[in-house]
Amino acid sequence: MIGALAGLARPVLFALEPEVAHEVTLRALELGVYPRCPGTEAPALRCSLWGLDLPNPIGIAAGFDKDARVADAVLGLGCGFAEVGTTTPRPQSGNPAPRVFRLIPERAVINRLGFNNAGHAAALKRLTARARRGVVGVNIGANKDSTDRAADYVAGIEAFYGVASYFTVNISSPNTPGLRDLQAPDALDELLGRIMAARAAKVASGAPSRPIVVKLAPDLAEDAVEPVVAALLRHGADGIALSNTTLARPGLTDPAAREAGGLSGRPLFHRSTVVLARVYEATAGKVPLIGIGGIDSGETALAKIEAGATLLQLYTGLIYEGPGLIGRITSYLAKACAERGVRTLSELTGTRSAEWAAKQI
Ligand code: FNR
Repeated sequence: MIGALAGLARPVLFALEPEVAHEVTLRALELGVYPRCPGTEAPALRCSLWGLDLPNPIGIAAGFDKDARVADAVLGLGCGFAEVGTTTPRPQSGNPAPRVFRLIPERAVINRLGFNNAGHAAALKRLTARARRGVVGVNIGANKDSTDRAADYVAGIEAFYGVASYFTVNISSPNTPGLRDLQAPDALDELLGRIMAARAAKVASGAPSRPIVVKLAPDLAEDAVEPVVAALLRHGADGIALSNTTLARPGLTDPAAREAGGLSGRPLFHRSTVVLARVYEATAGKVPLIGIGGIDSGETALAKIEAGATLLQLYTGLIYEGPGLIGRITSYLAKACAERGVRTLSELTGTRSAEWAAKQI
């Protein structure tokens, strides 16, 4: 019944403005109206990393649940983990609407939301109230009008330390002016120095060490990958997420492609997968990577794993394919493990080169 409702949902949701459709989706999840995808707990898909155990490596990417309203429902859909945020210290309304655009023939979205969110306190209240089951990461950012952006990230680490399974440091949203400048080597050094010091202070006071993942843009120049990765490794980042949305408009014909903002979905797959593979080569597999960008099928999910991902996240694919996509991806990945004679999916991580990734789709 709920599965049939999910099938009907797409035409109804697509008749609504994207942000209204998103709110309806969140309300349905809050009310528990969602299907549970079968096949999401295949033994080959289990993963253990950062001291965490995940039933499978598929998660919904940041931006879907900015205010931590539906973390349990996301896990209930069959995701192996959830990520809430991006959350900023103070609430902010983001950019003026309209600010989310569907590019239907391209299976893409452009958004320039600009970190609209209800602030740390609101998300923290919800995360504190939930039973601590499952892996839930918190994606942290900075307020648009902040005069000390690094302090906003440190505030995120301090606020959510007791409830976050891991943190994602988002320095790659294209919709907060200047945010991506934090990827420049000097800025990155200062930012990571302060974030890691905040974590070290927590650990010194007896708290466990929480993993810190840094989320990067797909628009990093080829020669910027090495220095950025070197800084991340030097500061002890536990993971790298690749990637956020892109400012590029690769071969798009839809008039909405002229809208300003970050592009996600199918046209992002190629670029984000190439950058993922380059970062895998630059890290020599030393830290787990989260592959994000244009995953909308089992094939695209497997390609991310082969390019170097240990975990996967998707967002736009879910808009076009519905929640059944999660089960279709996990079934495909489990079958791929059986066909290739590997016991666990992680054995397929990084088995292809960046040159191979460049030739995909
Ligand atoms: C996003 N994304 C995003 N990322 C992030 O780190 N913090 C955020 O708040 C948001 N917000 C957001 C809103 C909307 C409407 C979209 C479509 C995307 C980026 C997202 O997490 C992901 O990195 C990209 O969308 C690429 O993945 P997909 O959508 O191609 O699977």
